[in-house]
Amino acid sequence: MALVTNAKILNKAYKNKYAVGAFNFSTMEIFHGITRAALKLKSPIILASSKGELSFFGAEYMAAVAEKFSNIAKIPVSMHLDHGPDFETVKQCIKAGYSSVHIDNSSLPMKDNIRNTKKAVNYAHKKGISVEGEIGHVAGSSKLNKQEINIDKDLLTRLEDAVEYVEKTGVDMLAVAIGNAHGVYKSSPKLDFKILHEISKKIKIPLVLHGGSGISNQQIRKAVSLGIAKVNVNTENRIAFADKVRENLKQSPKEIVPYKMFKDCSLAVQKIVEKKIKLFGSVNKA
Ligand code: G3H
Ligand code: ZN
Repeated sequence: MALVTNAKILNKAYKNKYAVGAFNFSTMEIFHGITRAALKLKSPIILASSKGELSFFGAEYMAAVAEKFSNIAKIPVSMHLDHGPDFETVKQCIKAGYSSVHIDNSSLPMKDNIRNTKKAVNYAHKKGISVEGEIGHVAGSSKLNKQEINIDKDLLTRLEDAVEYVEKTGVDMLAVAIGNAHGVYKSSPKLDFKILHEISKKIKIPLVLHGGSGISNQQIRKAVSLGIAKVNVNTENRIAFADKVRENLKQSPKEIVPYKMFKDCSLAVQKIVEKKIKLFGSVNKA
């Protein structure tokens, strides 16, 4: 089966009240961990890459391995640009063969965010590619933080803005800032379900929760019941991968054989992804 768009995967999830995980990768070990989990649990899967990740791996290569996997696997697979910062990156990824893009201009003034998102949507839709937009801003980066999470209330998604943004841009999916942040913190975030509920009553497209690492299972379940159809996870996989590499190198500091240095790194990632797929409710939804 060829790659499919996020819209195709997520409209079905949204209607049936489950979510599909979007998992970032930048190495083949992480790719294998994610895809093996999806295959084992017969779940649709969204493979994602940020600009940093695709610059490391190569956008064409990412699209090629995702496409190859998709051809072999009997599950819906999407290759998605995560937090695309500008039109050029959106265009680059679509040309490389991605099936979905996220344009994230959420830190710009709203009118600029709307203008740039609309431009990306016009371009992507002509090519049959779906677009995720973001209003309000999900802060932080995908790393392990020692401090407490600190959410700037001014950055949360406001209902009126979200309605205007979706109407004017025509995005297929909307990422919301409801107390979530990228990365793992000392304590887990407390999502604002009142805002989420208001948004999901008015906006009838799949909603996206970024910063999926470190959010409690109970909060994730509630968010999914209120319209979240895609949950992005990166940091927890990065930690699992990095911990395993360190453990391997500690045991054999002189090792130079790559497949020994990276032994069981895929498995460490696979375990995390399996847990998330079960939590999001996408088992057997392929
Ligand atoms: O876009 C990627 C995600 O939002 C990942 O967030 O690193 O906190 O899991 P996370
Ligand atoms: Zn994100």
